[in-house]
Amino acid sequence: MTVTPLITEEQIQDRLSQLGRRIEEDYTGRPLMIVAVLTGSLVALADLIRRIQIPHRVGLVQASSYRGATTRNTTLVLNESFAPDVVGRDVLLLDDILDTGQTLAALAEHLRDRGASRVRTAVLLRKIGRQVVPIEPDYIGFTIPDVFVVGYGLDYNDDYRHLPYVGVLAE
Ligand code: XMP
Repeated sequence: MTVTPLITEEQIQDRLSQLGRRIEEDYTGRPLMIVAVLTGSLVALADLIRRIQIPHRVGLVQASSYRGATTRNTTLVLNESFAPDVVGRDVLLLDDILDTGQTLAALAEHLRDRGASRVRTAVLLRKIGRQVVPIEPDYIGFTIPDVFVVGYGLDYNDDYRHLPYVGVLAE
């Protein structure tokens, strides 16, 4: 397997600084809670929150999607062991990548059902060409083509998460 760099460490850090400033402006005076989706968004979470200088809380949810062999339907399985109390909170849901959109849309709905007063969404990457659920993230780091990427939290078989950049994985 080879990894070809697509987005450099410097580009990621610059973009997170911009997003952090926008989030500060948008959430000043609001009870912000950032809820990150494990495991892929951990690295982005750690870097992003250090660029947000307004008070905020952090929570985690774990979601895995299983695609049936004979169906295109995806079942989302949530592990709520670390789930934060979101009742009355202004939640910013953070995921590593928006692909079909199913994970982000389902989690946003779930957090609303659990009593969040508002749920907005942020993704480091948005893949073009595969979205099936009409969800428009409020904050997008980078738009990428339909390629399989790893690094900066994103994995292939639980490897490559540690890379400080995002790269395209190929045989
Ligand atoms: P959906 O389709 O629900 O998927 O938007 C989001 C989840 O799919 C995984 N995913 C990827 N993981 N490289 C990865 O390492 C990729 O190119 C990729 N595309 C989708 C990821 O877990 C994400 O949260």
